[in-house]
Amino acid sequence: MKLLSIETSCDETAAAILEYENGYLSVLSSVVSSQVALHAAYGGVVPNLAAREHVRNIIPVVEEALQLSKLTPNDIDAIGVTKGPGLIPALLVGVSAAKTLALAWSKPLLDINHLEGHIYANCLSGTKGEAKEANLPFPLLALIVSGGHTQLILMRDHFQYELLGETEDDAAGEAFDKVAKMLGLPYPGGPEVAKRADAFRTKEGNPKAHLFPRPKLTNKDYDFSFSGLKTAVLYFLKEHTEQIADETFVAQVSHEFQEAVVDVLVGKTERAIQEFQPKTVIIAGGVSANKCLRERMTETVAHYEGTIFMMPPFEYSLDNAAMIGAAGILRFAKMSEREREALRSNATTLEPTAHLPLIHPQIIPQ
Ligand code: KG4
Ligand code: ZN
Repeated sequence: MKLLSIETSCDETAAAILEYENGYLSVLSSVVSSQVALHAAYGGVVPNLAAREHVRNIIPVVEEALQLSKLTPNDIDAIGVTKGPGLIPALLVGVSAAKTLALAWSKPLLDINHLEGHIYANCLSGTKGEAKEANLPFPLLALIVSGGHTQLILMRDHFQYELLGETEDDAAGEAFDKVAKMLGLPYPGGPEVAKRADAFRTKEGNPKAHLFPRPKLTNKDYDFSFSGLKTAVLYFLKEHTEQIADETFVAQVSHEFQEAVVDVLVGKTERAIQEFQPKTVIIAGGVSANKCLRERMTETVAHYEGTIFMMPPFEYSLDNAAMIGAAGILRFAKMSEREREALRSNATTLEPTAHLPLIHPQIIPQ
């Protein structure tokens, strides 16, 4: 079974082709055209500019994905596209392209939640061309950390999502990006802060001055808040304006901020492990590329016998279409013929949704 997937929820135009055979998933091709250079001049993603770039790039990106896979449209069983959450002008381009292809090629069209895609990136192999068993032992605890979302999700089975808690204000990735701006680092800020923090850790041996608070760490719920932490960094920088040009100072602030975020993310996840005793813990979304988070989560989960830790391969941590394909093809594989036929109406009716919640989006009554 083969599926073409399309992702345009933010500033990456992406298409991929996935194959699913005997429980194994392989990425036949994955193309990502990044708009980072375009948006860098504005210090953030400009939705209408993103949409224009998607319009320019979507056909070449889909064509390249097909060429690299050495397949023709006849070989494709279904198409999957990101329905949301994301920027509407950006989502519209991918959804329109996917609807057009689904109509022209007469294929079933699946709408996929972007966050669901980040979760299912954990089923992909990071080795090119390698098939990986799509095995996620349940119950599963997913920490979603992207530019727009920070959520703890409990999954008792495939595609069943229970929201345990989420951020009340900024997402973790958003906080990284805003702190980067305060430090005068280029966009996108998350990886820039992480790079300086990691260099500081390596050089200084991971000292912790606890300059910044760990918001909500000791609260009994699973909600997060990163706005106060960001403001604490702002006030600290205002008190030390004379040092802002000093590279070591910037590296230390980056390190202290990263430690505060990681302490909260890992601490809350650990409490959920104790309460729900999941078989699997995963991280998902752009911040899952963070080395410090990956290391600390690996160490923490190792203390819990019977719980394994999985993380997405680096190349599928940030936005891409292979993760949308992974969620899409596994959904398609589990559907009845009737459910697959019902997907054909999406080619005329599908609409993007900016704030799409991660709950049973595609269950069709028998
Ligand atoms: O999932 P993603 O690519 O896009 C959204 O769905 O939002 O996540 C992007 C976010 C950005 O805020 C970016 O700064 C952050 O992920 N990010 C990182 C790292 N790499 C990307 N944050 C911390 N450390 C990183 N290495
Ligand atoms: Zn994302």
